[in-house]
Amino acid sequence: MTAKNKFYVTTPIYYPNDIPHVGHAYTTIAADVLSRWYRLKGYDVFFLTGTDEHGKKIENTAKKHNKTPKEFVDSLIPKFKEAWKKLNLNYDRFIRTTDKDHEKIVQKVLQRVFDKGDIYKGHYEGFYCTECEAYYTEKDLVNGECPIHKIKIEKLKEESYFFRLSKYQKQLLEFYKKNPGFISPSNRKQEIINRVQEGLKDLSISRESFKWGIPLPFDKKHVCYVWFDALFNYYSATRQKGKEKFWPADVHLVGKDIIWFHTVYWPAFLLSAGIELPKKVFAHGWWTFDKEKISKSKGKIINIDELVGIAGADSARYFLLRNIPFGEDGDFSEAILRERHNNELANKLGNLVSRVGALAEKYGIDEKVDFRKINVDVHIENVVRDISQLIENYEFDKALNSIFAYIDMFNQWIQQWKSWENREKDLYELATGIRLVAILLWPFIPQTSEKIAKRFGFRVGVGTLKDLEKPLKAVKIKKGEILFKKI
Ligand code: MSP
Repeated sequence: MTAKNKFYVTTPIYYPNDIPHVGHAYTTIAADVLSRWYRLKGYDVFFLTGTDEHGKKIENTAKKHNKTPKEFVDSLIPKFKEAWKKLNLNYDRFIRTTDKDHEKIVQKVLQRVFDKGDIYKGHYEGFYCTECEAYYTEKDLVNGECPIHKIKIEKLKEESYFFRLSKYQKQLLEFYKKNPGFISPSNRKQEIINRVQEGLKDLSISRESFKWGIPLPFDKKHVCYVWFDALFNYYSATRQKGKEKFWPADVHLVGKDIIWFHTVYWPAFLLSAGIELPKKVFAHGWWTFDKEKISKSKGKIINIDELVGIAGADSARYFLLRNIPFGEDGDFSEAILRERHNNELANKLGNLVSRVGALAEKYGIDEKVDFRKINVDVHIENVVRDISQLIENYEFDKALNSIFAYIDMFNQWIQQWKSWENREKDLYELATGIRLVAILLWPFIPQTSEKIAKRFGFRVGVGTLKDLEKPLKAVKIKKGEILFKKI
């Protein structure tokens, strides 16, 4: 590896059979926060997101719209990109499984795994849920319905190629043991291990019954199973020139519903292909909407325009990561989002910045004090260390809580000021505090941090964590607009 540290984070690639909603935004925001955090630290970062475009589900939806699958997905991709732009999601590549470089890699790997003897031909009989793009056995069904989507599913029998998943049971169990952080959070680990211990069946990895997919290089009548195709997106993106150093991925962020695919199938495919395994799969929980499953048919859905429309992009990002611990389920409530926007972003952060800004405009700021600590209580180095630990441990809610505790402390401090004997010094310390929170908040609410930095004349963004080791220059305050209008 090169001298510079690297960080590679991925989101699942989304099915573009409809426009994205808050559930998709959630993972992508978390990935954006992590990637911005490591950019702050000066790491070389690669943040990958994209779309999963093959498979029966997309083929069926396209048919309903009287389009070819490719026409149909092409029409939806701009909607994803626009949505991510509205949320300021700063990804490095948007990969599509229809990208030529990806298709080539998948075929290359399929051939390699086939040559190794890990793929063989057989017949598959089972219950296929198109929504999951997965087969179930009779005992998995609940009243004849898919256990996840609660819809009737059809029994299918077809010729299929199989991947020798069973062969990898022991290696997987050893891998989990040697890499205790691989399946995260840890409360999801035991269930996966138990299921793997019960035994693994070989996995059907090709379909003959539809055409929309990557043809198997050794039998063109078959297309590759969508999950085999999809999972390899993470690897193909690193086969581009200049990106090779990013493999293995540092973390795959996924929803809890797809943790099995990522912690069992994915490492098994990689073991077979002789490719190094990713370092971590982190599964987050699910958002409900008014306590019900997010679902289009019930009108319980919140798309990105609606999400950003409530209180702006930064407030949406802030709410999603602050309101529930990453890893747990949560209920989406517009009222709570508004409350947090008003009480925390506007009243606490907004007020701190406007008060100190106004005082500094009036009195100026002295710089002849120790910049490493703010008052006696706050030592910059310790704050940075504590927040790093929380973010790097995926405890985004706690990191935000802790940053806001400092904001509270600074606000109280202004309120308690009776005498103004040390006014310039105190203002200098407060401005240093504002720089501290603005830099630490940048991964979460980048637009706001950038506005604050502009007003106070410091840098915020890539590489600026290091700036906290230097004194804040005598600040020339510029007039600035109010950060958050109350709703
Ligand atoms: N295409 C597959 C992933 C392939 S990755 C190699 C897929 N796509 S999906 O569009 O159905 O879902 C993508 C992600 O969105 C999943 O991680 C899923 O958990 C997440 N979410 C979908 N609805 C969600 C909520 N209501 N709440 C939180 N996340 C949710 O699966």
